[in-house]
Amino acid sequence: MRGNGLRWRQCTRRWERKPVMAAEWSTPIDTNVAHVARVYDYWLGGKDNFAADRAAGDHAIAAFPDIPRSAQSNRAYQARVVRFLAGDAGVRQFLDIGTGIPTANHTHQVAQSVAPECRVVYVDNDPVVLAHARALLTSSPEGTTRYIDADARQPAVILDGAAQALDFGRPVAVMLMAILQHLAGEHDPYAIVAELMGGLPSGSYLALSHPASDIDAEGMIKMAAVLNRMMAEKVTFRSRDEVAGFFTGLELVEPGLVQASKWRPDTEAEAASPAALWAGVARKG
Ligand SMILES: C[S@@+](CC[C@H](N)C(=O)[O-])C[C@H]1O[C@@H](n2cnc3c(N)ncnc32)[C@H](O)[C@@H]1O
Repeated sequence: MRGNGLRWRQCTRRWERKPVMAAEWSTPIDTNVAHVARVYDYWLGGKDNFAADRAAGDHAIAAFPDIPRSAQSNRAYQARVVRFLAGDAGVRQFLDIGTGIPTANHTHQVAQSVAPECRVVYVDNDPVVLAHARALLTSSPEGTTRYIDADARQPAVILDGAAQALDFGRPVAVMLMAILQHLAGEHDPYAIVAELMGGLPSGSYLALSHPASDIDAEGMIKMAAVLNRMMAEKVTFRSRDEVAGFFTGLELVEPGLVQASKWRPDTEAEAASPAALWAGVARKG
């Protein structure tokens, strides 16, 4: 996909706020401005990015050299969380908002490797992620995987769409991995998270990671300035206390709200990996 936006425009399909099977032709993919899904893909070593994304990604690396390893730590954290939720916590339904471009260990792959009957609904608002929706929809025969093209600032739309594939009478794990930094204060991200969780039964979970303003603060401030200058989606990094606010009314599971690499690491190398993100998983009582 490197550099060839036109071809993508011609072959990309679009699914809007409904399961991906209903298709129509797509809106263009803007290759002139960096977009977070593609910048993140670049940091992870993927190929679904364009010159503008790589330029923003490189400037961010110059400001904060650990960002690629921090992104990898975030992915490893996500896989551990899904294994915990589908394993010890017994969750069988996942709502993964801010899906990202498919890479190794996506939510349905990890969840269905533990319990094949898991149902997963993905949500993102990026047309490149949408274009990959088919790759995301490779569910196990026993389970379900769906994709909703929607904006995280519209929780009611997300809940309506997800209800077509998930049973809201049973626990659901809401995953907000490295997305809430794109919801500025004016969008009231705390109210959005509360609305999402409010629609779900007791025994549901909230799992999130959030870039930190108080881990490696100097580099993170510089990187935020770069991204806010070069990327379409603006960022607001938050302190540990601010991130803790998203869990109001929920019970954090051990080890609580910690640096992403410190959340139940499988190896010493994982635990030692740089990660400028706060991370936690909490249960709705
Ligand atoms: C940094 S990536 C994280 C991807 C994945 N969750 C992970 O942690 O590996 C952020 C993702 O959130 C999506 N995103 C950003 N703002 C969004 C919004 N307002 N609504 C829906 N998705 C959004 C982006 O398109 C991108 O795919």
